[in-house]
Formats: sequence, C-alpha cells, structure tokens
Amino acid sequence: MPKPCYNLSTMAKTRTRYVCQECGSTQPKWMGRCPDCDEWNTLIETIVETAKPGLPSPAERQALVQRNAPQVLTQIEADSHLRTMLPMAEFNRVLGGGLVPGSLVLIGGDPGVGKSTLLLQMSAGLATEGQVLYVSGEESAQQIKLRANRLGISSDQLFILTETNMTAILEHIRQMSPQFLVVDSIQTVYLEELQSAAGSVSQVRECAARFQEVAKGQNIPVFLIGHVTKTGVIAGPRVLEHIVDTVLYLEGDRFHTYRLLRCVKNRFGATNEVGIFEMSDIGLSEVLNPSEVFLAERLPNASGSSIAVTIEGTRPLLVEIQALASTTSFGNPRRTANGVDMNRLLLIIAVLTKRVGIRMADQDVFVNVIGGLQISEPASDLAVAVAIASSFRNTPVAADIALVGEIGLSGELRIVGHLETRLKEAAKLGFKRCLLPGSNQLKQIKSPPLKLLTVRSLTEALEQALI
Ligand code: TYD
Ligand code: MG
Repeated sequence: MPKPCYNLSTMAKTRTRYVCQECGSTQPKWMGRCPDCDEWNTLIETIVETAKPGLPSPAERQALVQRNAPQVLTQIEADSHLRTMLPMAEFNRVLGGGLVPGSLVLIGGDPGVGKSTLLLQMSAGLATEGQVLYVSGEESAQQIKLRANRLGISSDQLFILTETNMTAILEHIRQMSPQFLVVDSIQTVYLEELQSAAGSVSQVRECAARFQEVAKGQNIPVFLIGHVTKTGVIAGPRVLEHIVDTVLYLEGDRFHTYRLLRCVKNRFGATNEVGIFEMSDIGLSEVLNPSEVFLAERLPNASGSSIAVTIEGTRPLLVEIQALASTTSFGNPRRTANGVDMNRLLLIIAVLTKRVGIRMADQDVFVNVIGGLQISEPASDLAVAVAIASSFRNTPVAADIALVGEIGLSGELRIVGHLETRLKEAAKLGFKRCLLPGSNQLKQIKSPPLKLLTVRSLTEALEQALI
C-alpha cells in the first residue's frame, strides 16, 4: 500500500484508490471485475482525498467562502480583448480568435504528424510576448535544438525543460512563472503517488488535472500534446477531452504535405473550425487559399473527377473528388474510400445501382479526395456519385460545374446549409455553374454569383453534369 501523500493546496491527506467507472464504487486494490456492479475492467487508479475528521470550524468555513464569491452576471467583464494572437492566423482561427488566458488546450494527433513541430513554432512566436516554458518528455534538449535550427527558431525567452516528473515540473513552473507553457507530451509525465505507468489513464487524467490547476490558478495558457492511440482517441478513453477547454486534432497523411488542424471542442469559440497547413523542409506554414491549392493539379476534362463544395467549420472549401470504376477480376468487387466515409460510399453505390440503374456489382470502385482531406459532410455525396458515374461511363464532368447536395435513399437530392457561402467560394474560383437540389431556400438568394442548375434526383443530376 503506498504511503499517504498531501495535496499541497489543501493539506488534506491523499491516497490512491481504485474507482469503478461504471458504478463509482471505491476499492482498496485493483481487481479485474468490480465486486459491486460485476463489470469487467472498470477500476481505474485515482487519487482520493481522505476527509478530515469533524466538521470545518467557522474560520475554515469563512476561508472557503472567501476563496470565491458569487458575482453578478452583468458585472463580469468578458475577456475577448485579452486574447493573445499567435503568429499564424490559421491557428488563431481554430482557437476561435486567439489564445484565451488561462486556457488548457489539448493537441492530439498520430505520431509523426507534426505536433511537436507546430508547437515549437508557436512557442517561438509566443516568446515575443513573454517567457515560454517548453517541457519535453519525448526528446532531449539537443534534439529540440536541432529541430529549432532547422526551423530557424532562436529566442532568449524560450526555455526547454526535459523532465517527466510532475512534481518537479510544477516546482519549475512555480519558480519560473512562465507566461506560456507547452507540455510534449501528456503521456510522458507521471505523478509519483500513482503506481501505474506514465501514459496510463489514471496518470494522464491526474496530470492533466494538475495542469488545469496551473492554467486556471496562475492564468497561464497551457498546451498539452496528446498521442492518439490505435483506436483514434487520446489516451484510451476520452478522459482528457472533458478536462481541457479546447481539443484540437492535427490530421493528415505523413506522405502528403497538407495538415489539417481541426477543433472538436472549444469553450471559447466555434467547434469544427479547421486550419490548413503545409509541411515543408522549414516546418509548417499556413495555407491561406486552400481551395485554390487543392484544385491546382486538376485535369479539367478527365473522367471520374468532380468538384465538391464543402464546409469545414465556417469556411467553404472546394475539393476535387476522384473516382475509378473498373471491372473486377474477382467475385467480390472492391470498394476503397480515401477521404470519404466507407459506409457513405457503399450507400452511394447502392443508390447508383438501384435508383439510377448503373450496374456496379461487377465494378471495383476507388474514391479519393485530393490533398489528403477527410470529408465527413453529406453535402459532398452528389460529387462522389457523379465522379463514380463519370468514371463508369468514361464521360467527363463539365469543367465549369461545382456540385453540392446530399443523396437520399430514393435517389432524391436534399438541400444542405450555408448555401450562399458555398456559392460565393465556387464563383471566386472561376466556376460558372453550380448543380444543386431545387428548394425554396434558393429563392432567398437574391443574386446568385453563378448560374444555379437545380435538379431533383441523382438521375437528373447525371444528365446535367456529364458532357
Ligand atoms: P513531429 O513534429 O516530430 O511529429 P509529432 O510530434 O507529431 O510526432 O514531426 C515529425 C515529422 O515532420 C517528421 O516526419 C519530419 C517532418 N518534418 C518536416 O517535414 N519538416 C520540418 O521542418 C520538421 C521539423 C519536421
Ligand atoms: Mg513529438
């Protein structure tokens, strides 16, 4: 049994216990099965504070109340003007317009995607505003220096600390009082009070809670880097996402140059916001005109290629969707989806077969979204279906048409949101016509920036789009 420790802020005695994530019961030791609710693998090591004996004295009660008094809503000042602007506008956009003081930001992503690179670049930018402490448990100071040289970073205000012991890190923060803190990564730091290894759910959760105290107590913005596990969540269960204020994922294929910084939770701004970066020899740089970049290598009259107008966060994006349908040499035709959801692709193929009459049963179908983007919006259904049909019939899609629309199971097309924004972006990139589902919503668009071709079904859409 570990020795009892003391929580320094309250001086209460703390112990580690095993708390069931299902029923909340507390056990003195780890067991495979919770004896109270009989669920398996639900006990997680947790630091619990043992209650002090007796009721708090009047002085203690007074001290508790004085810690934090209720405030009248009208007298609370919003802090929007206090946000710190990071050197890259794309990063500020994802954060909802800059970095909020005292916020805890988690950046997740696959190994090697560029998290450390991005945060080292951000740290260098923040170092112009004040002292930055970059805590690394992954790389040595020399390795970080080599990377900094490669990125052309040099600053007297940027401090590198290679440490993984949480208590030591907290002491460094107390003594140094940096203005910004970066932790690379949360899976490498550990608290001695917990017996489990660094990176386990209990370690990650308790350490993140300590950083939360630092962020809120000392008003320091803290960036935590988190690894995504094989199942695609940070540190196993999504324990961290509840603790932190903002969750960003850096996505992208290591073999492609583009990286997407996607916001999935933000207490200080819109979620689903996306920032687009390009990885080069000198690190990450922001892409300010993503639609143009994604369409740059397009062959205008090739069959199997169409243009979808999607919305990522609040920003419209034009992306090229490529499809290839070829006769299968096996009994079971293959379906490969790169950048679109597999289930969505199967649905679109089924609708093409059943409602449009295109026989896909003996066709291998490959779909690819150019630029390594991952599109989850149903508004790109129409572009995917048209690209597949175009490849199957070996007929190109008209080069000046952009496509928007969700496909229903009867082969009908459904209208999607943010139409004006989408149309403006398509017109800006030189498209003359947009194929979209007919709807009353279109009447609200007084002077469309490009010609609208309205259709009701996928069959009609194919007649209009294919040359
Ligand atoms: P890194 O930031 O170490 O990834 P993470 O912290 O997410 O694991 O990035 C590693 C990759 O980035 C590696 O494959 C090399 C590449 N890279 C560049 O292409 N250009 C650069 O300037 C840097 C620093 C890295
Ligand atoms: Mg790293």
